Amino acid sequence: MIGVFDSGYGGLTILEKIRRHLPEYDYVYLGDNARAPYGTRSFEVIYEYTLQSVRLLFEEGCRLVILACNTASAKALRSIQMHDIDPARQRVLGVIRPTVEAVIGRHEHWQERHIGVLATPGTVSSGSYEIELRKQWEFVHGGRADGLHVTQQACPMLVPLIESGEHLNAGADWFVDKYIRELLERDPETETVILGCTHYPLLRSKIELSLARLGSKAEVVAQGDIVAVSLADYLQRHTEIERDCTRGGTCRFLTTESGEKFAASASIFLPEAVAAEHVEMG
Ligand code: DGL
Repeated sequence: MIGVFDSGYGGLTILEKIRRHLPEYDYVYLGDNARAPYGTRSFEVIYEYTLQSVRLLFEEGCRLVILACNTASAKALRSIQMHDIDPARQRVLGVIRPTVEAVIGRHEHWQERHIGVLATPGTVSSGSYEIELRKQWEFVHGGRADGLHVTQQACPMLVPLIESGEHLNAGADWFVDKYIRELLERDPETETVILGCTHYPLLRSKIELSLARLGSKAEVVAQGDIVAVSLADYLQRHTEIERDCTRGGTCRFLTTESGEKFAASASIFLPEAVAAEHVEMG
């Protein structure tokens, strides 16, 4: 089984793409909805909550867990990989590295890039996107860091709006405009905007409209397909992991909230209705 974890519903945007690319495997999705959002929490708390979630997914029989959450990938992935798992039996992957590789890798001939990153305050304060983008840029450009301009924009209100089902309403436009304006004020030349939070694809059209309204032609990059392609590639390269991932085409949904509430809200994110089981954590 392959585990897919997010603090809440945002990871469903990743799960959906993964299942579309790799429908043959069995999946378990875990949303820590009762404790979401993570994005405004401290490093220690995000690490602890993410570790508990990863352990639960391994106990459920997963061989591989995807942190379909940028905040958890930024704040907890490295420590978990280094200290908390047995790499011979367990693997945990995040979403930031594949996104960065896809964004920079696609334009390796560019001499100058202006990249904006919309993310939670936790992801922004970790600096992970800036660090990874620079690393990848230097790798592609033979060590030269000049020419890359990264502007990170924290968007603290977007996840709460989405988790409470308010993202299609006018209040969401107001906050999207505010964050896009702040981003463009800091770098008017921004030509790529990474949706650095797995919840944000739900606001993609509002974000694109806001960019256009504010006179920007920036391309918006969402992570779902990127993560799915990168996972397919990973499984191809790691046959020792791949052969332990069962192939029944099923998907279970676990939540720290009530199963009924999860199922009702998940319908905003997924094309089909789902049943969810409540799990206790902590
Ligand atoms: N979906 C998570 C991410 O990609 C963040 C949600 C939260 O703040 O809990 O960062």
